[in-house]
Amino acid sequence: MSITYFENERIFKLDTPNTSYIMGIVDEENFLGHVYYGKRMEDYHVDYLMRTQEPPFVPSKNNRERCSFYDTFPFEYPTAGLGDYRESCLSIRTEGGHCGCSFSYVSHRILEGKPSLTGLPATFGDKDSCMTLEITGEDKHAGMRVKLYYTAFSDTDVITRSVKIENMGEKPFYLTKVFSACLDMDNQDFDMISLHGSWARERHIQRKTLGYGIQNVSSFRGESSHQDHPFLALVTKNTTQETGEVYAMNFVYSGNFRAQAEVSQFDGVRMSMGIHPENFCWKLMPGEEFQAPEVVLVYSDKGLDGMTTSFHHLYKNHLIRGEYKDKKRPILINNWEATYFDFTTEKLLAIAREASSLGIEMLVMDDGWFGKRSSDNCALGDWVVNEEKLPGGLKYLVDEVNKLGMKFGIWFEPEMISPDSDLYRSHPDWAIAIPGRVATESRQQYVLDLSRKEVVDYVYECVAGILRSANIEYVKWDMNRQLTDLGSYELPEDRQGELYHRYVLAVYELQDRLTKEFPHLLLENCSGGGARFDPGMLYFSPQIWCSDDTDAIERLEIQEGTALIYPLSTMGAHVSDCPNHTVGRVTPFETRGIVALAGTFGYELDVTKIPKEDRDMIPEQVAMYHKYNDLVRRGDYYRIASYSQNHKFDCWEIVSEDKGEALVTFVQVLNRANFKSRRIRLKGLDPRKQYRVEGTEECYSGEALMYAGMHISNPWGDFKAQLIHLYSV
Ligand code: GLA
Repeated sequence: MSITYFENERIFKLDTPNTSYIMGIVDEENFLGHVYYGKRMEDYHVDYLMRTQEPPFVPSKNNRERCSFYDTFPFEYPTAGLGDYRESCLSIRTEGGHCGCSFSYVSHRILEGKPSLTGLPATFGDKDSCMTLEITGEDKHAGMRVKLYYTAFSDTDVITRSVKIENMGEKPFYLTKVFSACLDMDNQDFDMISLHGSWARERHIQRKTLGYGIQNVSSFRGESSHQDHPFLALVTKNTTQETGEVYAMNFVYSGNFRAQAEVSQFDGVRMSMGIHPENFCWKLMPGEEFQAPEVVLVYSDKGLDGMTTSFHHLYKNHLIRGEYKDKKRPILINNWEATYFDFTTEKLLAIAREASSLGIEMLVMDDGWFGKRSSDNCALGDWVVNEEKLPGGLKYLVDEVNKLGMKFGIWFEPEMISPDSDLYRSHPDWAIAIPGRVATESRQQYVLDLSRKEVVDYVYECVAGILRSANIEYVKWDMNRQLTDLGSYELPEDRQGELYHRYVLAVYELQDRLTKEFPHLLLENCSGGGARFDPGMLYFSPQIWCSDDTDAIERLEIQEGTALIYPLSTMGAHVSDCPNHTVGRVTPFETRGIVALAGTFGYELDVTKIPKEDRDMIPEQVAMYHKYNDLVRRGDYYRIASYSQNHKFDCWEIVSEDKGEALVTFVQVLNRANFKSRRIRLKGLDPRKQYRVEGTEECYSGEALMYAGMHISNPWGDFKAQLIHLYSV
């Protein structure tokens, strides 16, 4: 890793182990231009690519064609309103109502390590693992200073970017758009990969040709969302899992975002990412600064596998924190699909007794334990234990569960308020709403106005008070509706456009306080399943509930899309009952276990009611989890085959860091007549090592397994899964 400024050429060069990122300063006006991002180069003499030698030349020499310059130059951080008609990264409105702004380089600093981002989650690293370039630019006319941050890592091929805007003038101005990163590239014929979804159908991989104009994915739902994901990759046409070039961006943020690519009239490609400008307007007073969230950039010339490896490595080592970062998580049993709202202490203890006898390690009590909540139409905000359901209170239940040798976990949805709640009756103005307009309900609830300090403090005390009252070792933090009716009763009218972002900042503040006061707590984020599965939340919780769809076959596609970016250790995955509650499908219990093994692993069923043959399989699955979880959590993940593409079978592999063992999961979806075995080519092994297939006498070289492959026999029946464990001898 290195960051160098070549003064004569006015070139910055950032290197990670296998990639280089190059930009340069041009003209007397000090425009900052993008030159190159790609395979690592030692040569930095690439300023000839900056397009300042072709007409219209630079504005200081040809102001007559300033507009042509603005509209073609590959800006590192493009600004709006002065002649660049491509999508900008920064737009402001002055008190006079004007919008144009610019960025001219002023100075830079090269820092060891990586500064944190005030109020925001971000990747981190020390001086051995990363270094940071801070480039300061100014728009004197607007009284604005812009700081661009670039961090290069030494142990993974990642560059992160973020932006800070300062008002150095005497009057306030309004930020109407602040993106965090941009890549202005030249002449590539790209496909665009994004992750699309819906409730219970999150993060399905979508690939399409990039055409002229703007193509984007976005959310202005107040969260990163089920529907689109804060991720975008541009890949060369020939890109496969193993080959081809990939430029990817992922946003370390949990609120509104836009990720987009624009192909210009000159075949330039501008890829950018940041907070969605919809309903965003931030008033910046003189002397104040605004910190925009971080974007993670990955370049790979080894196809999607190369990209995935870099993201996984970064998130495992430079984003996830806390006690459970590298630790095996307790196998949990969650009562949601087992009982929904219909439970009592007695019922929960019956589940816990049976579960503990089978080796399950933690009981999680889901929605319905507080206020008058016996359906989803009331009581959010009334975080008082319902003693009719839980006679003897929470402490009694937790103590009884602990006596069984099990841990206890609990569900909250702290950001919400039901219209039918004591909280709403006493504080109707605490809900987000537009005064005078009937607010839109979703799941019969409103969202709390977390831009208000007293609301944040109330929420925190509710959650923390419950956690202080008993030995609770896990929290599932849910968020079950998206934001509408953006209005705060407290923010002044010229700050209403800050509500979306202030809301996200408050969620981060709450989780920051919680993880500081309860450092041993295992926190799992959730949002109607996986609508807030993003790097922002991963900074606070090492795992996130992946989807409300627990069907093993549906999960193949959801987990494939999620694992394209996020490590397996982060994916909440449970074995649930059949017929499956979301799709009605019946799959073998064994398959459900094998698919859930690729995530955090747990159960979501009434263990006292499931068929005996399924229940009898649980101790085996528990043993399987203990045997393989270190490998699953720490190992390198490889996608071998994708059911979503071949419509036949799915296959993935995990290889230990020392390449001493590998676990291959093969899931056949629908069986077909007269097929023999399938040949699978493995990845990531040591070509010189010999690997034994556990439970057999078969032994093959890593080379043969990777280049020639191995046979996996065709299982009998539908929805059948098998695990193949290889270890070096
Ligand atoms: C969301 C979660 C579920 C469950 C319910 C409870 O849908 O994703 O797992 O906790 O809320 O209301």
